[in-house]
Amino acid sequence: MTEKILVIGASGQIGSELTMRLRAKYGNESVIASDIREGGAEMMESGPFEFLDATDKADILVILHKHEITTVYLMAAMLSATAEKHPKKAWDINMNALLYVLEFAEKGLLKTIFWPSSIAVFGETTPRDDTPQKTILEPATVYGISKLAGERWCNYFHDKFGVDVRTIRYPGIISWKTMPGGGTTDYAVEIFHEALKKGSYECFLDEKTKLPMMYMEDALKATLDIMDGEAFDTYVAYNVAAVSFHPKKLAKEIQTILPDFKITYKPDFRQQIADTWPRTIDDSLARKEWNWKHDYDTTAIVKDMLKNLS
Ligand code: SER
Repeated sequence: MTEKILVIGASGQIGSELTMRLRAKYGNESVIASDIREGGAEMMESGPFEFLDATDKADILVILHKHEITTVYLMAAMLSATAEKHPKKAWDINMNALLYVLEFAEKGLLKTIFWPSSIAVFGETTPRDDTPQKTILEPATVYGISKLAGERWCNYFHDKFGVDVRTIRYPGIISWKTMPGGGTTDYAVEIFHEALKKGSYECFLDEKTKLPMMYMEDALKATLDIMDGEAFDTYVAYNVAAVSFHPKKLAKEIQTILPDFKITYKPDFRQQIADTWPRTIDDSLARKEWNWKHDYDTTAIVKDMLKNLS
């Protein structure tokens, strides 16, 4: 059977680039983009698009049938900062859509699901350096709670019904094509836009807040790699890591290219979220089991971001 792919949340930061990568790999007509809002021209013009609300079970089913979908990438989510402002809505979006697609897979309507988790599953009681694959998971944020619950549901459907669902825990994702929205790690994208536009940036995290980050190229690679090949015997929400830095370090890297760039710090409520997340991640299991490897270090990320945005 040929792959027919549905990307839910295709207009978002990761979804938009993932859709294009999947179209390049499987053919434009084989990858259906869907979202509640239109995406960029490149995505809208290169292949099929459906308006789809990820919390609308009946509508998801209609689209699965209409396009004979075999694989779903469920990228729709409300990120950490916005979720703190709308807890119930965040739970609804982050949880229900997942439960629907898991149930459709259980019924045999789908072959494979990709569902991303996050470093937000970790909390204050988790070791913050070299955070292990298996460790204490006591997230303090609504977003983190939904991601942790989602991981357990994926595990449940995998073990009980043999559902092929695959997960990685994304760190903060840095990219230039589509802006992220509502995340705690978003400063690491905003900073580039402001550096080029205004020559300065007021950071909403404190200068020493070190967090795990990854360039979009690497995030796409990790996503395609884990989806390649046969189903896994056990469900693991894999830690994947690339770089870790704090705002001051990122600013320094930017200053090597834009020497006049200035950064100031005005931590807001997102500081409390970041303070519960890891500084660095141990992703040795992903490196061992499916040969995960990142390509972009901080210097390479900064160079590529500034080149593409200017
Ligand atoms: N980038 C996300 C956030 O900040 C973490 O998964 O919410």
